[in-house]
Amino acid sequence: MQRHNIPTAKYKTFTKEQLADGLAFLETLKPPFVLKADGLAAGKGVVIPTELSEAKKELTEMLANEKFGNASAKVVVEEFLNGIELSVFVLTDGKNYKILPAAKDYKRIGDGDTGLNTGGMGAVSPVPFADDEFLKKVETQVIIPTINGLQKENITYKGFIFIGLMNVNNEPYVIEYNVRMGDPETEVVIPRVQNDILELFNAVVTEELNTIQFKIDEQYAATVMLVSGGYPGDYEKGKKITGFEAVSDSLVFHAGTSLKNGEVCTNGGRVMAITSYVKTMYEAVQKSYRSAEKVKYDNMYYRKDIGKDLEKYFKKENA
Ligand code: GLY
Repeated sequence: MQRHNIPTAKYKTFTKEQLADGLAFLETLKPPFVLKADGLAAGKGVVIPTELSEAKKELTEMLANEKFGNASAKVVVEEFLNGIELSVFVLTDGKNYKILPAAKDYKRIGDGDTGLNTGGMGAVSPVPFADDEFLKKVETQVIIPTINGLQKENITYKGFIFIGLMNVNNEPYVIEYNVRMGDPETEVVIPRVQNDILELFNAVVTEELNTIQFKIDEQYAATVMLVSGGYPGDYEKGKKITGFEAVSDSLVFHAGTSLKNGEVCTNGGRVMAITSYVKTMYEAVQKSYRSAEKVKYDNMYYRKDIGKDLEKYFKKENA
């Protein structure tokens, strides 16, 4: 991102020997500060101090006193981005690209974005705070430099690019790239793509994505992820699932399920995603919740507030 001038949070990486430089870099940033142990730290390696003195103490603990062992042998010090997150997806054949519908997913386990991070507890598409003007900025400031950057660096990349973005006062900042689609974003994005997906994939292989007329369904899609009680911590598998055959108004995507002696059972943390798409986001969410209520298994859990944080944008539009 730095090489290709793609907007992202200011950051630098420091080792124990560079502690003094790290402390000096902290002084150039505005609070709060993001300190990330560069290695695996069982999900505990990110600390967000609000005071400079606290940040300096923490960086010293992580680097000099090896707070997270080898995982904090290198620490990334990063600017905190205060905004709202969304995911944008691109399909590229290496030269041409198509921008898929944007989505917002809900990563925390609890209502009101509380509790542990998960792979995603629900998603909606389109995203009301990503209007045409914002998405144009995403295309010019992020997507085009990303595709051109891959070419300049002689990286042949064909497939999906998942761009995790923060909208900070209507300016896009990249927080992550993945070379895949997202889950559960896929469950709201792909239903809105009206083209034959195989036709798109074929055009990626033959490098003719530019010849495809991309058609997007203007309706709202919302998905609710049904999970095993206890997820993302320990949970039991093998619970018999009933009722999903009775869902007729929504799409049911199996994720963590298996067939045992002819019965569909839970076989993972995230069990099923229930997607609906209709004229308004509110209706799409409500329809998915009505369908979710038909599904039953022991210790079933799902968030009850998917899309709720976005209602204010619709109220503004209707005012
Ligand atoms: N839902 C986030 C991801 O797929 O990475």
